[in-house]
Amino acid sequence: MKLSNKLGIGTVQFGLEYGINNRMGIPSDEEINHILAYYRQSCREPLIDTAVAYGNSHERLGIAFQKDNNYKNCIVSKFSPRVRTAQELRDECQTSLQILKVEALYGFLAHSAETLITNPSLLEALLELKKEGYVEKIGVSVYFPAQVDYFIDKDLPIDIIQAPFNVFDQRFAKTIELAKSKGIEVHTRSAFMQGLIFKPQPFFEGYFAPFLQGKKCLEDLAKTYDIPVQGLALAFCLKQPFIDRVIIGVDSKHNLEENIEAIAFFESSGLNETILKRFQELESIPEEILLPYNWPK
Ligand SMILES: NC(=O)c1ccc[n+]([C@@H]2O[C@H](COP(=O)([O-])OP(=O)(O)OC[C@H]3O[C@@H](n4cnc5c(N)ncnc54)[C@H](OP(=O)(O)O)[C@@H]3O)[C@@H](O)[C@H]2O)c1
Repeated sequence: MKLSNKLGIGTVQFGLEYGINNRMGIPSDEEINHILAYYRQSCREPLIDTAVAYGNSHERLGIAFQKDNNYKNCIVSKFSPRVRTAQELRDECQTSLQILKVEALYGFLAHSAETLITNPSLLEALLELKKEGYVEKIGVSVYFPAQVDYFIDKDLPIDIIQAPFNVFDQRFAKTIELAKSKGIEVHTRSAFMQGLIFKPQPFFEGYFAPFLQGKKCLEDLAKTYDIPVQGLALAFCLKQPFIDRVIIGVDSKHNLEENIEAIAFFESSGLNETILKRFQELESIPEEILLPYNWPK
């Protein structure tokens, strides 16, 4: 499979100031149209990841879809953790469909897996929405591997798991591989660790020092093989057979072009075993430091 066909586009950047490196702010409507049009040219089966919690990203997408309505079956959205009842879930789904200007979602996920773990009746409500055709697949977004274990151990009927996965954060490798073997579709995020891989080396002192080994490894390999760091970081995720979709965030069409060009090298040559091994052998980083919501502001 062509690697670019595995890419999905994240949209938190369309509705909120996001990213550790962000200097450009939220993209304009015109830029969003450019990003989406370029993405659709580059990816045979587009997938767009969004959420009620991403500021006005649903509205921004709805505006873009008015111009180009070829995105009907490719939107994954997430309901907010404040949803408590089946009726609230149904209302949030209907509102999302209206704002996005689509008849159905490809995926509808709990933004926080804990919402479903502590309130299993919401899983029944999700299954109802699926039966009625408002959503094709249901699932959860996770932050901790134990959350994936919970759904697998109980054999709960979810179709999609979205988890963070990247050179620095390989905590989920085993659990998502198991999920995939059980027929669950695996989407990953954070290929660029929210943009951290693009920070210059002096940034990796103090709090971010545990990331330095991975940062140096990326830079050494990029130099040796003459490939951009984002190509390596992306290919590491795209080449994993247990990952169906790698969702990336971009602020501009230019970022997306760079990223797609950067993986071109790996389309034909594969990710060399030596490179793969170097990343797999990186020391693991303490979980509390990996989680972006703990990072100093
Ligand atoms: N719990 C959840 O479900 C959850 C949580 C987080 C994210 N997500 C989803 O995942 C998507 C991606 O977010 P992420 O955290 O995983 O981000 P990411 O893809 O790891 O990093 C995205 C950031 O990388 C930078 N970037 C990308 N291409 C670049 C390039 N060519 N050159 C320089 N910088 C580049 C941009 O940062 P700068 O703006 O800093 O330049 C961009 O905002 C989100 O949009 C969202 O859809 C889901």
